[in-house]
Amino acid sequence: MNIPEIDAQYVEHTYNRFPVTIVSGKGALLTDSTGKTYIDFGSGIATNSFGVADDAWQQAIVAQLGKVQHTSNLFYSEPCALLAQKLCDRTGMKKVFFCNSGAEANEGAIKIARKYASDRGNAAPVIVTLKNSFHGRTVAALSATGQDVFHQHFGPFPEGCAYATANDLDDTLAKLSADNTCAILMELVQGEGGVNVLQPAYVQAVADYCRRHDKLLMIDEVQTGNGRCGALYAFQRYGVMPDVVTTAKGLAGGLPLGAVVIGEKAEGTLSAGTHGSTFGGNPVCAAAAISIVDRLTDNLFEDMEAKAAYIREQLADAAGVADMSGLGLMLGILPAEKMAADIVRECREQGLLVLTAKNKVRLLPPLNIGWDEWKQGIAILKGVLAK
Ligand SMILES: Cc1ncc(COP(=O)(O)O)c(C=O)c1O
Repeated sequence: MNIPEIDAQYVEHTYNRFPVTIVSGKGALLTDSTGKTYIDFGSGIATNSFGVADDAWQQAIVAQLGKVQHTSNLFYSEPCALLAQKLCDRTGMKKVFFCNSGAEANEGAIKIARKYASDRGNAAPVIVTLKNSFHGRTVAALSATGQDVFHQHFGPFPEGCAYATANDLDDTLAKLSADNTCAILMELVQGEGGVNVLQPAYVQAVADYCRRHDKLLMIDEVQTGNGRCGALYAFQRYGVMPDVVTTAKGLAGGLPLGAVVIGEKAEGTLSAGTHGSTFGGNPVCAAAAISIVDRLTDNLFEDMEAKAAYIREQLADAAGVADMSGLGLMLGILPAEKMAADIVRECREQGLLVLTAKNKVRLLPPLNIGWDEWKQGIAILKGVLAK
């Protein structure tokens, strides 16, 4: 049996896989089992921040592997402490709880919000989340996800979420002002929901309300974070200061690491014994993340902006394009007529890997993709969109 056959027989079918087995790669180029190469505009869904087999990232991992691959969280660990320090220094946040994935980071945020409420005598707290959001696949994260399609089959779901309409300030404040509401959790660019960018004035007004009324402003930066939107975290482009930030995906450049980054207001809410994770802050993942975070610099962000400007210019009046959305190198293209899934397939056949997000084509290239690969990939995409 070949790999797709073995996979079909033995792996539970929770994914509709493409008919491609990726075996290796370098930077933004991937090679499949037939030797065909692809330009990668997906980065393992915003995870391989500096592409595949990045040299500095590999060296950081190998060096840490030669020291110790795992310690329990009963001991101090240098990579974990140093990574937390970097994240706090660069965001103005105060503490970090490490975990393994985006959903787990959001579980942590939900627990912080609930404990914050419980510490203040609110025994039935509600968290506002936004319609069309996506916060992960665990039961509480599904509950927080504001899409009915995710609220099937796995009930009973935990109570305590109210869903507001993104960019509708009246609706959001109406839900946020209820006495038992303790927090709001939102993505600044809804990724799975269709690369919908939240309006800065809306986000700032929500942040201001939270600050004045002792509600926690919790930003899900699982997909938008770690440089993806042209700043270390997207909130830094919105001029707001969250109380909790969740992240994962690109943080460790392709190894599993999630983080709940906690600001002054909620610092200390999770006291000893209230939360934990065996692998959270794993030294190899943390060393990988340090090698990523250290290279998320203003120079890189400027280069990313130039690449974002280039694609916007190329596709502005291009045939087959109805609209474009996004921030930094998190981009959505609304096709004029074609189905996004057909565009993904045709691009793949021509050696370019792109993603969908609802009815849009979604692009999440490696943050340091070379200009040649960027231009070549855009030329393929333009051709497919126009056909
Ligand atoms: C905004 C957002 N939150 C949470 C998640 C869940 O992350 P994970 O798959 O690592 O649990 C995702 C994944 O796509 C996401 O985009």
